[in-house]
Amino acid sequence: MKLFLDTANVEHVAEVAAWGVLDGVTTNPTLVAKEGKDGSQSSPQTFKETVLKMCALVPCVSAQVTAADTEGMQKQAIEYSKWHKHVVVKVPMTIEGLKTLKFCSQKGIKTNTTLVFSLPQAILAAKAGASIISPFVGRIDDIGENGMELIGQIMEAWAHYKFSTEVLVASVRHPDHVIEAARLGAHISTIPYEVFKKLPLHPLTDTGIKRFMDDWEKVKKS
Ligand code: E4P
Repeated sequence: MKLFLDTANVEHVAEVAAWGVLDGVTTNPTLVAKEGKDGSQSSPQTFKETVLKMCALVPCVSAQVTAADTEGMQKQAIEYSKWHKHVVVKVPMTIEGLKTLKFCSQKGIKTNTTLVFSLPQAILAAKAGASIISPFVGRIDDIGENGMELIGQIMEAWAHYKFSTEVLVASVRHPDHVIEAARLGAHISTIPYEVFKKLPLHPLTDTGIKRFMDDWEKVKKS
């Protein structure tokens, strides 16, 4: 399973990329606005700079279109795709978005369909030629339903057909979402920084290291 970081913070991308396990990054307007509050991003131009810095660190960076109409989305898709070959254009799961996905697939522009909440939406995006679809598991959990059930439905359907579209588990809230995503065979998980930092940790690793260190001290003294 590929591991992406869900962030617009370049320092966080650089930190996790240095671990040698990071396959990509997903951004969205909310994440970009959050960084802007800290003074690091304040305009579409600085967003472009952020995306370019991330493209230098990882091979796949999702940049989301902000237009709501097909023409505007297609214009932004062409613009973003020219920024860097690692850019994947993120398009919302709307009818305008579907038309944009088809347009992009015909032009060879890689896409990630965002805001997927049902199996029919997943199938439509795949048929329109999306490179990636992003079902939002956390937001489904937030309304009292089970987000991972949707991933199960999608992976079950994907096993029947020859969709080349990758399934990216988005809106991850905790490591259990990542565990379930891997067990269901999802292709990608995009993970917030705070959750990503929990993945290498296990209390038995810590106590194990302490015991090895303590015993090695005894060897040194003997
Ligand atoms: C990823 O591409 C999505 O934009 C992201 O995972 C949304 O997560 P949220 O529900 O925590 O905002």
